[in-house]
Amino acid sequence: MKTRITQLLGIRHPIIQGGMAWVAEYHLAAAVSNAGGLGIIGAASAPPEVVRTQIQEVKKLTDRPFGVNVMLMNPNAPEVAQVVVEEGVPVVTTGAGNPGKFIAMWKEAGVKVIPVVASVAMAKMMERAGADAVVAEGMESGGHIGELSTMALVPQVADAVRIPVIAAGGIADARGFAAALMLGADAVQMGTRFVTARESIVHANYKERIVKAKDIDSEVTGRSTGHPIRVLRNQMSRDYLKMEKAGASFEELETLTLGSLRKAVMDGDVKGGSLMAGQIAGLVKQENTCEEIVEEIINGAKELLNRHFE
Ligand SMILES: Cc1cc2nc3c(=O)[nH]c(=O)nc-3n(C[C@H](O)[C@H](O)[C@H](O)COP(=O)(O)O)c2cc1C
Repeated sequence: MKTRITQLLGIRHPIIQGGMAWVAEYHLAAAVSNAGGLGIIGAASAPPEVVRTQIQEVKKLTDRPFGVNVMLMNPNAPEVAQVVVEEGVPVVTTGAGNPGKFIAMWKEAGVKVIPVVASVAMAKMMERAGADAVVAEGMESGGHIGELSTMALVPQVADAVRIPVIAAGGIADARGFAAALMLGADAVQMGTRFVTARESIVHANYKERIVKAKDIDSEVTGRSTGHPIRVLRNQMSRDYLKMEKAGASFEELETLTLGSLRKAVMDGDVKGGSLMAGQIAGLVKQENTCEEIVEEIINGAKELLNRHFE
């Protein structure tokens, strides 16, 4: 399947694995790239030298293009931005802020720059700043979210910019993929489905919570702090929401969640850890390899799209 995104990035299939803190390390990224999609290393708050090692490891496992997700609110972001250039990373996606000040440096180095946006205004601003594409991410997503749903956001962004749009949030199978194309997207980015991939290093307890999740099992913490995050409901989210309702300060809430995603990913602490996952968790029924996931979606979408145009 050829789209403006497969051409821009030099990949076979328009499926991108979201850059996820702790989850998206080099094994997962390499497996997605080897399956013909674009694997992404989530730099999150990792020190720049750890990100460099991750990049060097992914290069050992794949010859295909891959990316790095740079979280702009991380104080190390300028150093990570530099590592990306030094290591010749082909694609960067950015989260949590405006990457404007790094775009010129990245473009000069030939890095394709793809900011994650949650509104039309941000998408237009990123296009003006020189972005090659945008990820339009709806609030169905796992992790940090905006206000609009994918269904409403993607077509409005697609109408507002000329650069390609990648739809994210609530997509985990061929139907979601085909729908995203119909909304005007040139590719999809998936997070939750890839958390459960066989090659994902996420603890089995966390994967199991996603596989067993129902449609209504996610909730949003942190709305009062201006940093809403979608997670699966557990002891941690209940404690957080109770404190939030009681008017706890931003600092108190931050202290509660400190290291909580790491606890879930590495230790399998599904009570006190933060189980970031999207509304689509209810659709994810089993662990599959990245190749199985990509093939299932591409073959399924071909069939669906043909069926409708017969
Ligand atoms: C566990 C987890 C961690 C995430 N961490 C990040 C991150 O560090 N940076 C980022 O830009 N997006 C992050 N995201 C969002 C994903 O990259 C992706 O856009 C989102 O999961 C898509 O929605 P879906 O979960 O419905 O597939 C994260 C998502 C999850 C589930």
